[in-house]
Amino acid sequence: MDNKIKTIGVLTSGGDAPGMNAAVRAVTRTAISQGICVKAIYRGYQGLIDGEIKEFTTQDVSGIIQRGGTILKSARCMEFQTPEGRKKAYKTIQKEHIDALVVIGGDGTFTGGRLFAQEYDVPVIGLPGTIDNDLWGTDATIGYDTSLSTITDCIDKLRDTATSHERVFLVEIMGRNAGFLTLNAAIAGGCEAAIIPERKSVPEQIEDAIGNGRRKTKNSSIVLVQEHAVEGGAATVAKMIEKAHPEYSTRVTVLGHLQRGGSPSAYDRILASRMGVAAIYALLDGQRNVMVGIQNDDIVLVPLSKAIHQKKDVKEDAWQALLTLSI
Ligand code: F6P
Repeated sequence: MDNKIKTIGVLTSGGDAPGMNAAVRAVTRTAISQGICVKAIYRGYQGLIDGEIKEFTTQDVSGIIQRGGTILKSARCMEFQTPEGRKKAYKTIQKEHIDALVVIGGDGTFTGGRLFAQEYDVPVIGLPGTIDNDLWGTDATIGYDTSLSTITDCIDKLRDTATSHERVFLVEIMGRNAGFLTLNAAIAGGCEAAIIPERKSVPEQIEDAIGNGRRKTKNSSIVLVQEHAVEGGAATVAKMIEKAHPEYSTRVTVLGHLQRGGSPSAYDRILASRMGVAAIYALLDGQRNVMVGIQNDDIVLVPLSKAIHQKKDVKEDAWQALLTLSI
């Protein structure tokens, strides 16, 4: 055991995700149980630069496991992307006697954390907190499961009006550059198609979705469109469909930030708790610059560089399942 770690800093950064609070709680309580002082850093890396820090007790994380969002607030910090910004952040680290950082967020959070760790030799442990599920080396990210359920609920509601009016609904789904949310919500919602960046061209996917063969047996469709699969998102796809099939009546729904809100699911609370505990034991074990992931229900440690740079693809069987079941 490496006893040099006496104080850790914990922050949430990037897009908030349901379950981040459960992760903050787990990190805080595990650290304190091991005699480590916890400094909560507000507003992500911006708070590290500005010194917005409060020492946490176990009570500070009471009653938060069920809350969405993040009690630490979050931000996307441009200044931390500059060497000057990171230098200021290091000054705070020295002033606050922080020996290691636990950063909860996604790709941008890990990219910044990794750079900082390389420049200033501060151990960084990442917890994957993002609805996008786009980090390599982990089957799931904190917030993904909750977001999938939220989206599925919305699809169920849209189905009622889509069938009543015999319309084609184009529903725009978040995910940054990844189609996990879109594809799996499409399966869960019994959708006619998902248009995702990982698979064949958009016009082909649209034809698959509402080709004449299908329209003979269905009078309405719900097609999920990943926000960046096509320039202009779901609105562009709606225009393409109306041009090719003027007889179809289309409507566009952009779910937007609804997808990030709400109380975390049991799965996300458990995932965040297990990962938060593992982060502290990893630090005590001398680990640095790794992400805590989950693979086949086992906690694993993955180098931050791999989590960020290796491409995680959607599952081919899931894609095939959607195609097969949407006829
Ligand atoms: O990474 C989470 C995410 O919600 C993405 O799915 C989306 O592209 C992005 O954040 C939106 O960011 P913002 O909240 O800054 O508009």
